[in-house]
Amino acid sequence: MKRNLICGLDVGTSHVRAIVGEVDLNGTINIIGVGTSPSHGLKKGVIVDLDKTVEAITNAVEEAERMVGTTIPSVFLGIVGSQVGLIDNRGVVAVAGADKEITEEDVERVLQAAKVIALPPDREIIDVIPREFIVDGYDGIRDPVGMVGVRLEVDAMIITGMITSLRNLYRCVERAGLEIEGTVLTALANAEVALTRDEKELGTVLLDLGGGTTEIAVFQNGYLKNLAVLPVGGDHITNDIAVGLRTTLQHAERLKLDHGVALQSMAPEGAMLELPHISGKEARKVQKKELAMIIESRLVEILQMAVEALAEMGIKEPLPAGIVLTGGVSLTDGLPDLAEQIFQSAVRAAQPGYVGVKSPIYSTAVGIIHYIQHTQLHNLREYKGGRTALPGFFGRVKSWFLEMFD
Ligand SMILES: Nc1ncnc2c1ncn2[C@@H]1O[C@H](COP(=O)(O)OP(=O)(O)OP(=O)(O)O)[C@@H](O)[C@H]1O
Ligand SMILES: [Mg+2]
Repeated sequence: MKRNLICGLDVGTSHVRAIVGEVDLNGTINIIGVGTSPSHGLKKGVIVDLDKTVEAITNAVEEAERMVGTTIPSVFLGIVGSQVGLIDNRGVVAVAGADKEITEEDVERVLQAAKVIALPPDREIIDVIPREFIVDGYDGIRDPVGMVGVRLEVDAMIITGMITSLRNLYRCVERAGLEIEGTVLTALANAEVALTRDEKELGTVLLDLGGGTTEIAVFQNGYLKNLAVLPVGGDHITNDIAVGLRTTLQHAERLKLDHGVALQSMAPEGAMLELPHISGKEARKVQKKELAMIIESRLVEILQMAVEALAEMGIKEPLPAGIVLTGGVSLTDGLPDLAEQIFQSAVRAAQPGYVGVKSPIYSTAVGIIHYIQHTQLHNLREYKGGRTALPGFFGRVKSWFLEMFD
């Protein structure tokens, strides 16, 4: 039986996650495989150890393969914002056909035209995302195929990446025996799962609070407007706890996950925590308030940095749809309350609702599948029964779904 499977791969600083989704012709995605492996080859979102990264990718993918019961030959890969830049550009072409009906090929050509741009030598184009098409001066068109016109323009966002760090990432995935079928910006993947269409239209900030990085993505009028990445995350909180309470990183991480809260005021007066004994030291007790204080101060620092990054983008007032939190750190109890104080804006934590993968730590990998499905599959439905060869959606990915045989 032929099954249409997509594997989303998120190579994060604290974990590598591989998620396999099965897509049916109605576009419904069922998550059928989940693999996770601790990641030790990255620092602040950038690969520093190839072997360890290859190992983590292999482990995560093998775990997902065992669940799915088939091998995964290729993946769609998440690209983090620290390695990318966004450039707005326009492309213009004359509609080719004698009947002046705009075809897929015209759209492909206009996107190619938008790609013509001077780039610094250390950067390459990883994606072109159409924001709107303009046909004979009429703007705001999302899908011009089938319309009649003479002049087709596109207002597009070009995503560029740092060649060296991307090559390292690609090399690791390939050395793990996987073909890269396409790449997706992690901010766009997160948005698929975490944001509603209204939020993206009205204007919202999506904060992905990960282990080694905090990614700030601004959406407005339905599009990604701006992106910034801070080199801090939940691992810094763990580090602070280890130093502050004089314990190991492992104990510190456990304390954080089991007893951590974002606000000192949330920790009950007098509540104590047992610190496990480590070699040479007696088991000790610490105040829950002390743990909360350490967490709160680092979170305040991270959120303040986000406020500054937004100010640099020119966003000094809260956006209409407020702030949405995702990533592992967004699971911290009380974080939306703390963030509301700091941003002076409405804040909610994203709660992805996919069976088996409800936690926001899987949002990026699940979002990759959704992004690929949504940008590609609606085209399949439109053209089903029509042409024989399915055009790749704007030719952006080689093939839009994995074909596996079992
Ligand atoms: N329940 C929880 N409460 C608080 N923090 C948590 C919780 N679960 C996970 N974390 C923290 O979230 C971080 C990992 O988040 P995530 O898996 O999103 O990161 P990543 O994608 O691997 O890293 P990055 O995006 O920075 O490259 C770790 O620091 C972890 O301690
Ligand atoms: Mg992440």
